[in-house]
Order: sequence, then structure tokens, then C-alpha cells
Amino acid sequence: MTAKKKMAIVVGLACGAAFLLTLQAQQRPSDGPRYTNGTNLVRPTDYREWVYVGGGLGLTYDAARNPQDPPRFGNVFVNPSAYRSFMQTGKWPDGTVLVLESRFSETDELVSERGRYQAKLRGIEAEVKDSRFPDGWAFYDFGNADSLRDTAEPLVAEVVARCVECHTKNTAVERTFVQFYPTLLEVARQKGTLKPGF
Ligand code: HEC
Repeated sequence: MTAKKKMAIVVGLACGAAFLLTLQAQQRPSDGPRYTNGTNLVRPTDYREWVYVGGGLGLTYDAARNPQDPPRFGNVFVNPSAYRSFMQTGKWPDGTVLVLESRFSETDELVSERGRYQAKLRGIEAEVKDSRFPDGWAFYDFGNADSLRDTAEPLVAEVVARCVECHTKNTAVERTFVQFYPTLLEVARQKGTLKPGF
């Protein structure tokens, strides 16, 4: 083969690869889920730079928890591209990552007896909408703050059955608690994507 021909092949391959990469970039948002072996989710370390959609205080669903214990905060963040898409459609696009950051709450009696503020991290959970999963969604638990995992496998069996049940029966939009995220709720109402009853 002549040097010219070889060169032509190399250039051709490079163009092909660049084209495929561009296609992929168009299909999958760059801030979307990152996996290690196809479905194990890499814990997003920059989620605090994502969009904060809202959160609750004491919205616990742990039946074993003592109601006398101080309430915890839940902060919910979503990747910016999914947020922008939701703002336009009232639905979550493929490649949505929602992070639930749970924090202990404290009081400061000098300031107010009843007010509570957010304190130490307790744990991180996540939820992903991705067509690679059989029913389009996966749930993850990165564990407690003192032993956070860098990657997590999708939850399975009875563990995920609990997540799915509550996140199907009680949620306002798809598998998410949009009723607790005021700006999203308004958009979902306008776009008519709320489930009946909301
Ligand atoms: C009995 C109900 C219930 C169960 C079971 C449950 N959740 Fe949730 N989840 C909630 C509520 C209520 C919220 C609203 C936000 C908050 O807690 O402040 C929420 C919010 C979330 C969010 C933020 C995005 C959203 O959907 O609104 C994630 C991520 C999440 N849960 C993950 C999980 C995972 C993982 C499991 C299973 C291990 C799980 N949840 C089980 C009730 C539940």
C-alpha cells in the first residue's frame, strides 16, 4: 500500500470516529449518568453545582425511625440538562439523574428555639431515568456519609421494590415527588404532566 493510501485510510477512520463521538454527544447529555460496567452508577461528585429543585424537612419514610428523633433535611438536585428539558416539557428526559442528599438538622438556641438548620451529611441516594433499564428507571444508594461508595450497583429485589412502590403510588410526575418541588410543580401543571389527583 502506498503512503498516500495509508494516510487516506487513517484520515477516514479519524473522521468516522469523530462523527460517532459527535452523534453520541448529541444523544447523551454530558452531565448525564456515568456508569462503570454498564449499569453501576458513578457517584456524581459535582451534584452541588447542579440545579437544586427542593427538599423536605422530616419527610421521612423510614417506618422504624423514632418520631421523637430530630427531623432530617432532604435536598434534591438534578443534572442541568434534564432540568432544562423538564422546564420545556414537564417530563424527565432519558439521562436524568436525581440526587437525594440527606442531612441531619440542628438547632441554635441563641437564635431561635424552634428553627432548625442543615448540618452534617447523612447519606446520598440517586435515581436515574435511562432506557437501558427494563422499566426505564434505576435506584441507587451510595450509603452513609462516613462510608460513601464511589460507585453503586442498581438496587434489586425487595430493596428496590420498596423504592419503586412508593415512588410510583405517591409521586406527582413519573417516579418523582414533583409535588414537593414548587417550581417543577408549576411547570408540570402548565404542561399537563401531573398524574390524576395532583
Ligand atoms: C415510603 C415512600 C418512599 C420510599 C420507600 C422511598 N422513597 Fe425516595 N422519596 C420519598 C419522598 C417523600 C421523597 C421526597 C423528597 C424528600 O425526601 O425530601 C423522595 C425522594 C427521593 C429522591 C429524589 C427525587 C424524587 O424522586 O423526587 C430520590 C433520588 C430517592 N427518593 C431515592 C430513593 C431510593 C433509592 C429508595 C429506595 C432505597 C427510595 N427513595 C425509597 C419517598 C420514598
